[in-house]
Amino acid sequence: MWGAKLGRIQLYYKVLKCCLAAKVVDRADIGNSYDLVSRCYDDQFLKTMQQYNIKMLSLLPLPEKARVLDLACGTGFNSWWLLQAHPDYVIDAVDISEGMLRQADRRLDGKANLIRSSALEFLGKSANEQYDLVVCTWALEYQPPIKVLRECSRVLKQDGQIGVILNSGQTLPEVRRVYKHLLIENSSRIEKLMLELPNPKDERHLDRWLRKAGFCEAQTFRGMHKFSFDSTAEMTDWVTSTGALAGFDVMADLHDEEVKKQVSALFERFGILAITHDFVWGIARKC
Ligand SMILES: C[S@@+](CC[C@H](N)C(=O)[O-])C[C@H]1O[C@@H](n2cnc3c(N)ncnc32)[C@H](O)[C@@H]1O
Repeated sequence: MWGAKLGRIQLYYKVLKCCLAAKVVDRADIGNSYDLVSRCYDDQFLKTMQQYNIKMLSLLPLPEKARVLDLACGTGFNSWWLLQAHPDYVIDAVDISEGMLRQADRRLDGKANLIRSSALEFLGKSANEQYDLVVCTWALEYQPPIKVLRECSRVLKQDGQIGVILNSGQTLPEVRRVYKHLLIENSSRIEKLMLELPNPKDERHLDRWLRKAGFCEAQTFRGMHKFSFDSTAEMTDWVTSTGALAGFDVMADLHDEEVKKQVSALFERFGILAITHDFVWGIARKC
């Protein structure tokens, strides 16, 4: 009981110290987190979740010829899918993680322009009205979303389309439940704060963001996918190798075997054997 109280006090102290010193997980840290999972990302996450990418991409009206921006392209799935149907599309695929881009390069084999950059930095250097299509899946929350959407609207041609998918604020409730205990157990090792990501509450929230950013005719939806596991060890491996906790793995080193054991024990303690991905997605037209 005293141990837990002390851990909590230590955690508050560490959080305050990081706040005062402005030690916060940044874009480069997120990129590093994805570097670490880049080789297993497709197998652990995308193999299952690509069905939602395809659902969103299939809803987009695809013109005959197009210039496309695949923002935070990861391992290049969206670009690859679009090129299957439209080999003549000219695609700029941007990502901050070198590891993810390496995987994208394998998949795309020179058929898209791969660019290493943060989303906002790339958009900031891009001219107005040059793309017919922008897609951004499972990544919009890593930089201020409305700012990114406004920039996407600026670089899109009139009537250009955008397609997005991102986690909702309700995603991964099981992980949230154990994470605070993990932080208490590891408070002495915390060097940087990971701030809560700005995920939308629901599909109506995404709709408001899109309208604010200059889009109309938005169609937005909510989705959910539950990953079930046979053991907490298997679940821990999954949680730490999908990128789902990118950035949070900096605050508590989720790649450390000791910490992984603690995560597994916490899942065991709370009887958790499934992880819920709750997300929103949609398409819209630049008006
Ligand atoms: C969950 S993955 C999604 C990848 C891909 N869009 C997909 O659907 O598989 C998130 C991607 O966002 C990238 N990312 C994170 N922050 C970024 C930023 N600020 N700018 C550009 N890419 C970023 C990561 O490197 C990672 O490849």
